[in-house]
Amino acid sequence: MASSELLQEICLNGQVPRHVAIIMDGNGRWAKQRGLPRAAGHKRGMAAVRESVKGALDAGIEILTLFAFSTENWQRPRSEVLALMGLLRLYVSKETQKLREQGCEVHVLGDLDALDASTKKSVEFIISETAGGVDLRLNLMISYSGREEILAACRQMIARAASGDLLPEEFNEALFEAALFTAGLPDPDLLIRTSDEFRLSNFMLWQVAYTELHVTSVLWPDFSREDLFRAVLDYQERDRRFGRVTVG
Ligand code: IPE
Ligand code: IPE
Ligand code: MG
Repeated sequence: MASSELLQEICLNGQVPRHVAIIMDGNGRWAKQRGLPRAAGHKRGMAAVRESVKGALDAGIEILTLFAFSTENWQRPRSEVLALMGLLRLYVSKETQKLREQGCEVHVLGDLDALDASTKKSVEFIISETAGGVDLRLNLMISYSGREEILAACRQMIARAASGDLLPEEFNEALFEAALFTAGLPDPDLLIRTSDEFRLSNFMLWQVAYTELHVTSVLWPDFSREDLFRAVLDYQERDRRFGRVTVG
């Protein structure tokens, strides 16, 4: 089915997911299949990011969260880490203007202190240049760990309790969520993982409690607008019960 038909079906179904998160995986395998260095797969992955942003805008998704680099990924060979950081800077220099025109507001979530100075500058640039975009909020998760995010929120709560600002019985989900990177955002409705891997790899552990999961065998560099639309259509067929029973 062509992308316009898929999109039409999405609109007819209604209930477009507000927040879609993607674990972008399979760049290395994509490159290996072609006898190319892993970095070539990462580079090609940028096209898939472009496709996803376009698809999200077309489908009326409000928030798109992309897992681009985990804290565990720092343990990859230095050459690969440097290539990935270089691509992030390239993405910023090539895409910022377009994202701005598209009405995207970019946020970069993760341990940004771990980034080198020039990459950090790039990140600050894309954030400030796209601030105020109202059509899509794009979260790029970089140097991100779900467990670390939870621990950092706990540290904040413990510090407040220790200073007498917060009583243990006042500690609740709302306060905790306000201390996460995703403060103020709804949880992802749909989580897509490419390259046929059925695991979370330390991604948004708190936020995905009731997220619908969609795993596709497509490798990230091949991921297209159509693949995003197919994932949304799959989501629209789900019966989200949140632990309750469906009446009727
Ligand atoms: C995803 O592709 C990109 C990052 C994790 C940075 P991979 O590099 O994990 O590709 P595979 O899983 O080895 O194919
Ligand atoms: C998850 O992919 C991290 C990102 C997509 C950024 P990985 O390739 O790092 O995860 P594992 O090693 O397959 O669990
Ligand atoms: Mg991988």
